Amino acid sequence: MNDRFLRACRREPVDRTPVWIMRQAGRYLPEYRALRQRVDFLTLCKTPELAAEASLQPLRRFPLDAAILFSDILLPLEALGCRMTFNPGPKLVEPIRTRAQVDALERRPAAMCVPFVADAVRLLRQELQGRTPLIGFCGAPFTLAAYLVQGEGKEGFGALKSLLFREPATLEYLLEQLTETMIDYLRLQIVAGAQAVQIFDSWVGLLGPAEYEPFALRWVRAIVEGVSDLGVPVIYFVNGAPHLIEQAATAGSDVLGLCWRTPIDLAATRVGPNLALQGNLDPHALLAPPADVARMTGDVLARMAGRNGHIMNLGHGILPDTPIASVEALIERVQAAGATTSAAVIAGAHA
Ligand code: CP3
Repeated sequence: MNDRFLRACRREPVDRTPVWIMRQAGRYLPEYRALRQRVDFLTLCKTPELAAEASLQPLRRFPLDAAILFSDILLPLEALGCRMTFNPGPKLVEPIRTRAQVDALERRPAAMCVPFVADAVRLLRQELQGRTPLIGFCGAPFTLAAYLVQGEGKEGFGALKSLLFREPATLEYLLEQLTETMIDYLRLQIVAGAQAVQIFDSWVGLLGPAEYEPFALRWVRAIVEGVSDLGVPVIYFVNGAPHLIEQAATAGSDVLGLCWRTPIDLAATRVGPNLALQGNLDPHALLAPPADVARMTGDVLARMAGRNGHIMNLGHGILPDTPIASVEALIERVQAAGATTSAAVIAGAHA
């Protein structure tokens, strides 16, 4: 069993830094594009055999240290009765802007609405056979609300922020519903076999420090608490939020996932020693030639050298036009650093 990812989540020593890549199953892989020629995105997510296949594709190509369930953060919102399309980004059939719409949300158990997610997790655990741990995930309530209120991600989030300041109670009520649904949804994944979970707060950077606590952080804290009895590590990914790092570190998660905007060693100093960190190479850096990718990967690793609890990753999802050679360069550099560090440790032990 390769457990260096889980060990790093718990800040235990590892033979080398573990690496996985946000959105590692996706359009930069020719085999994923071939799969998508046959089925649309929602069918792919909802068919356990196909979702498991998509999750496994990157692991067949690269020696990654974790698999992530193939799905999307918006899918469990179907448990609330929300309908959506993907092209390729999500679009809500009917955005939620009023208290009456929040009142009208359905509250059905995840096991009833998204049974295919639990099936995909079980299938993946069988197929992985301990080769790598499996990560489950959900969206953070604020990020989910961003899509629900706005309807889509593209055109800024004016409707969301105006609801926040005009009618905060309505937004808070929506966030409460989302929090309950996400606790149920993560528990479903963990009980089915997910060995760690990541909460994606992709749009939290829209908030200032005063709004962050009431509209985002307290709900994430409730989710972390709501799954804590199940004993799996929780990663909290905060995108675009260098101004919120100290606050985000109090969510109760085991790992804080960072975007690429902060030098990771400075973030480490800011959050202190009791939290593992994940990240944080700029996804655009993978558009550089492989030698530069290796150099920039080495820079992130060097910033965390000698500190337990680092998981190498990008600072946001991998871009669809990323060359395969860049991913290879990144992973080879991580492996080479491990070899060097262990060699240095052994040499040190003999000195
Ligand atoms: O990481 C993985 O490989 C697992 C699968 C995964 C997907 N989406 C598949 C996907 C995960 C973990 C997500 C999370 C997700 N979805 C987030 C959080 C991460 C982030 O990027 O900030 C967000 C905000 C979404 C919402 C979403 N879904 C967007 C904005 C898009 C379009 C973005 C784009 O890349 O164009 C999607 C669609 C989506 N989700 C695709 C995939 C592989 C592309 C769909 C396709 O195949 O056509």
